[in-house]
Amino acid sequence: MADLRTSYLGLELANPILVASSGMTGSIDGVRRCAEAGAGAVVLKSIFEEQIAHEVEGLYPPGDPAMVHPEAYDYITAYGRDHAVDHYLNLVEQSRALAGIPVIASIHCVSAGAWTEFASRVEEAGAHALELNVYLPPTRMTQTAAELETTYFEIARSVKRRVGIPVSLKVGSHFTALAGFLSGLSREADGLVLFNRYHRMDFDIDRVEIVGGAIHSLEHEMQVPLRWISILAGHVHGDLAATTGVHDGAAVVKALLAGASTVQVASALYRHGLGHLGRMRDELAAWMDAHGFARIDEFKGMLSRARTRTPDAYERVQFMKTSVGIE
Ligand SMILES: Cc1cc2nc3c(=O)[nH]c(=O)nc-3n(C[C@H](O)[C@H](O)[C@H](O)COP(=O)(O)O)c2cc1C
Repeated sequence: MADLRTSYLGLELANPILVASSGMTGSIDGVRRCAEAGAGAVVLKSIFEEQIAHEVEGLYPPGDPAMVHPEAYDYITAYGRDHAVDHYLNLVEQSRALAGIPVIASIHCVSAGAWTEFASRVEEAGAHALELNVYLPPTRMTQTAAELETTYFEIARSVKRRVGIPVSLKVGSHFTALAGFLSGLSREADGLVLFNRYHRMDFDIDRVEIVGGAIHSLEHEMQVPLRWISILAGHVHGDLAATTGVHDGAAVVKALLAGASTVQVASALYRHGLGHLGRMRDELAAWMDAHGFARIDEFKGMLSRARTRTPDAYERVQFMKTSVGIE
């Protein structure tokens, strides 16, 4: 039987399939259910920088830009809860005590503000690692790529200075010169989680109004993280985790072949239930058995660009073939 053990952010996991930060990991009971279903680890539901700033008195002076952002304000008034910080630290502590699998805390942040000192409290509460979901919407017409990217670096450095536990960065794919940016960013942390799935927007043309887009991913969305993980593997510092569109065991195999150490799954578990984790594990193990691999490190990164030596010209030719083929 295939050995599914793997290491991620220096943590030893029984298997590479994690429950992604989501409502499923937002309560102690939810975390316990994930562990019982055999998750390799859990990433807890994120606490938002704005929630931390709102509660930790004096962190942000009145009028601080972090608190006047209208979306942040709306979030806090609509969804923020009293004692969110205590509640979160309790979630970390209890999850660590009960789950028996690594517990990765998560903070959703937009600045390297004073909130970063909260990271050390997450560590004290017992988190095995900390994932930072950094999302700065690149929608300001006057903002440059360099300004945006600098903030990502500042956040990573600021948090790394405050904690001894491993830190991973969950980021999106919309950057200029993505490989160069992520390669640099990887040196500031212990791992990259690729990619954040942004809030989608749609229009309701009957009511003529803006509505939310699809909350859950589709299988084909995995092709974006797959491509970039295969490009980055072997060239970046630390571990890579694949998220967005990982729906079955075949997708787990692909992510590992590309060079990921783990996958983080949400939509497929919402759709099929936590029992789906077991099926994904079985499919991974069956594929390994069928291909004669006893351990993950025997095939991890086998189809990465570094190992296949795919040159830019090769990609260009594939692109040309597809374009010509559909004419
Ligand atoms: C209902 C829901 C809640 C989520 N909440 C968070 C969150 O709090 N923090 C975070 O970093 N990602 C959050 N995510 C994103 C997931 O962690 C994951 O990265 C994303 O859904 C892509 O993976 P998937 O294709 O398996 O769904 C959420 C996703 C869903 C569907």
